[in-house]
Amino acid sequence: MISKIKSCGLLGIDGYMVDVETDIANGMPAFDVVGLPDAAVRESRERVRSAMKNSGLRFPQKHITVNLAPAHIKKAGPFYDLPISIGLSVSSEQLPKDTLDEYLFLGELSLTGELRPVSGALPMIMCAKEHGVKKAIIPYANASEAAVVSDMEIYPARSLGEIVAHFQGIAPLSRFTIDCDRLFGESEEYMVDFSEVKGQENVKRALEVAAAGGHNCLLIGSPGSGKTMLAQRLPSILPRLSFDEALEVTKLYSIAGLLDEGVSLLFARPFRSPHHTISAVGLSGGGAVPRPGEISLAHNGVLFLDELPEFSKDALEVMRQPLEDGKVTIARVNATLTYPSNTMLIAAMNPCKCGYHGDPTRACSCTEAQIKQYLGKISGPLLDRIDLHVEVPSVKYDELADRTSAERSKDIRARVEKARKIQEKRFAGANGVYSNSQMTPAMMNEFCQLGETEAALLKQAFENLGLSARAHNRILKVARTIADLSGSPNICAQHLAEAIQYRSLDRKYW
Ligand SMILES: Nc1ncnc2c1ncn2[C@@H]1O[C@H](COP(=O)(O)OP(=O)(O)O)[C@@H](O)[C@H]1O
Ligand SMILES: [Mg+2]
Ligand SMILES: [Zn+2]
Repeated sequence: MISKIKSCGLLGIDGYMVDVETDIANGMPAFDVVGLPDAAVRESRERVRSAMKNSGLRFPQKHITVNLAPAHIKKAGPFYDLPISIGLSVSSEQLPKDTLDEYLFLGELSLTGELRPVSGALPMIMCAKEHGVKKAIIPYANASEAAVVSDMEIYPARSLGEIVAHFQGIAPLSRFTIDCDRLFGESEEYMVDFSEVKGQENVKRALEVAAAGGHNCLLIGSPGSGKTMLAQRLPSILPRLSFDEALEVTKLYSIAGLLDEGVSLLFARPFRSPHHTISAVGLSGGGAVPRPGEISLAHNGVLFLDELPEFSKDALEVMRQPLEDGKVTIARVNATLTYPSNTMLIAAMNPCKCGYHGDPTRACSCTEAQIKQYLGKISGPLLDRIDLHVEVPSVKYDELADRTSAERSKDIRARVEKARKIQEKRFAGANGVYSNSQMTPAMMNEFCQLGETEAALLKQAFENLGLSARAHNRILKVARTIADLSGSPNICAQHLAEAIQYRSLDRKYW
């Protein structure tokens, strides 16, 4: 008898339905899996055989053919152990066929029949719902994320044995639910707050501007000046994630296998800080079993590249397009995957190799040529994606010793959210543009017009400070954000003047 069991696969960040068809025929005992399976799927025979035996089921000693449909997409990973076992049990009449039809099955099996969690349960359950499936049997450890999907009955199980007992009517599985609205209503937790950073008012202001306009930002300062500390606090002043954004973030972590058991929804903005030895693939994503890279794990949050000049040229190069497009495209033999990568980039670097160029307290031991060479490592295309260059001076002792508490993140965030609202209105209807940093040249013509005084000021700044051409559009975009923060419809001289300050690399070193 042929049976058909519903399961799911993953392509990029989305699930697709997979039908697991199992046919048992008389003849030489065999076990063939067809439909573009990868090695992990082909190896499921041993796990399925052993798991069935240890769960009170018989493994049919016949000619077994398993077809994974649709056949044109390569099936990666050990997702299909559970649906194959169930299919075999139905085909060999050990489980009733009728009630099984309305269920989705996800899970990897251990040899003892224990059900192991799968990566990407959330997007797969979302996909099943879109295809009209109403019930899902999944590994217990995936229950919390799966239950986020409304209108889907989730039945978590710990083992194949429990599932068998469920369908034989011996011990029904209990349905698992969570209260999504209540969960989302709770405020997200950030472990850190801007009020912990003493002094550094100028840098905090620059980060507020960056957050308000979605601008990428480079922090330049001596070791210990607080660059890492400041960058880590950026997510806490970004606007709250919407439910849909939280779902996108959770999907990515689900696919990457980074969701902790018991976690349903990630509703804090992610902060990723990969080490500078990371490979290009580690940053952008891909690999033999495709995985989202750091730039996608930072989707809707912050990607922090500490010691920017130490990253390999390849790694920096591979980030350029994703930063521009907000997505990573990975070509595979049979398909093209995309992972979203709408992230704010915060990079940090020392001002020179020794770290103390321009520091009032310590002497720099680098030659001019060495300083040039060090800064040269980050010149070019990636730097073109960075709107703000911010110098981070060493904190003075008096500021560190000051006991009065600085402004809280939530108060800074309130201003950021107000400025973002203005941008939402401005770009309503413009597909994919949400913040000033994403303005096209046409949009800049429309929204960054300067009065006579302002135009003269910008011209003068260019001539006197020797700004490079790349600085021009950056300054206008940032000035637009500064005007939005102050609620001004026009870009005024003071907004421009502040924006010009945030181009220190153009000014000083080139
Ligand atoms: N403005 C500040 N207020 C309070 N503590 C600070 C400040 N700047 C630096 N620190 C302290 O110094 C440590 C080192 O800062 P860090 O952010 O690692 O510097 P950097 O990344 O620039 O080398 C921080 O963990 C923090 O304890
Ligand atoms: Mg640091
Ligand atoms: Zn130096």
